[in-house]
Amino acid sequence: MKTLKPNLIMPDAYILGIESSCDETAAAVVRSGEQVVSNVVASQIAMHQPYGGVVPELASREHLRAIVPVVRQALAEANQTYKSLDAIAVTQGPGLAGALLVGISYAKALAFALDKPLIAVNHLEGHIHAVLLEERQKGNRELQFPVLALVVSGGHTHLYLAAQTNEAWTYENIGHTRDDAAGEAFDKVAKLLGLGYPGGPIIDRLAPHGDPTAVKFPPSQIKHRDRRDRRGPKETETDRPRFDFSYSGIKTAMLRYVEVHGMRDSIEIRRKSLAMIPKPKLEDYLANCDKQARDLVASFQRAIVEDLTGKTLAAARAYDVATVFVTGGVAANNELRRTFEQSGAQEGLPVYFPSRPLSTDNAAMIAAAAYPKFLARDFAAMDFSAEASLALR
Ligand code: KG4
Ligand code: ZN
Repeated sequence: MKTLKPNLIMPDAYILGIESSCDETAAAVVRSGEQVVSNVVASQIAMHQPYGGVVPELASREHLRAIVPVVRQALAEANQTYKSLDAIAVTQGPGLAGALLVGISYAKALAFALDKPLIAVNHLEGHIHAVLLEERQKGNRELQFPVLALVVSGGHTHLYLAAQTNEAWTYENIGHTRDDAAGEAFDKVAKLLGLGYPGGPIIDRLAPHGDPTAVKFPPSQIKHRDRRDRRGPKETETDRPRFDFSYSGIKTAMLRYVEVHGMRDSIEIRRKSLAMIPKPKLEDYLANCDKQARDLVASFQRAIVEDLTGKTLAAARAYDVATVFVTGGVAANNELRRTFEQSGAQEGLPVYFPSRPLSTDNAAMIAAAAYPKFLARDFAAMDFSAEASLALR
């Protein structure tokens, strides 16, 4: 068992986090990796909604527009000034290159002008540290290793074994999606069914109103070697088991179901009707979804939840971990949380989530992940740049 103590010799450190990897412009101040002092998120959802997904060019422009007021607000709410900050942390990747560059350029300019340390943070590490931040805020400082973290969002479905040596955290990837991320599947299926964007929160709210056993989706089959892994067989053949995911099959199965059951016309009516409502509420979705649509949504969510929990807990057993973290946008899902909590409890395995605001993209997680690097004086050089496919190690 390890105790998550702040460094007792160090005075409090106030770190400004900046996050702009996708469609949220976010800034936050976190004290010593353990207390969220302010957490501001400007969402671009409304702007991307008509396109049914994030438009990278629009995202960059919107980050550029929002970044200064969002940072100012985060400082004001934290009762901090630019000068009183101890360090500036920013997401380096993975994410949309143009979007990342906005946050990075701004963070560099601030760090240079203020002569403050600059810390580059991997977005996925941020999601993992959101769980630690949550637990520290609750006063839970004891963490049992080994830790297995499922990062499940719109761009990622990754399993990491996380270890801590002194201040430094290291990560070993033991599974990832071979195609679509789980959040991407939620978004694509919601779009296909004319429900709007982003799909996850809509499906989450609709699913309890349908029968999750109505439609059987086949479990994902992963037979061949990962096409993205170009290394020779010797290098990839390890004794360490892998737990990969695949969600393109369920999307295709859903498309086939829609065709076979002649749902196209009703979907088009639903899409047009919901598009006329500025901010549809649950009643609006319910009024526009017949039993068939609700059952389909509930069955889809059940299939994804069973796959995510089943594989994660199988990995937890195979690696004999003591603790499971579930984080990223999809970790906000009610059925996923419930299922993980129940199954984890049955196996005597503690499962931790961030609160919902810390599950989806935010900058508090970036400032929290930066704190161990701050203690280790692991600062970024002024010539570092955005890395759209940055790996976590
Ligand atoms: O972590 P995040 O905010 O951004 C990325 O790093 O991708 O995750 C966004 C994703 C979207 O695909 C969204 O549909 C999904 O998380 N999501 C949810 C829920 N809230 C957000 N999926 C399922 N249930 C939710 N309640
Ligand atoms: Zn994210």
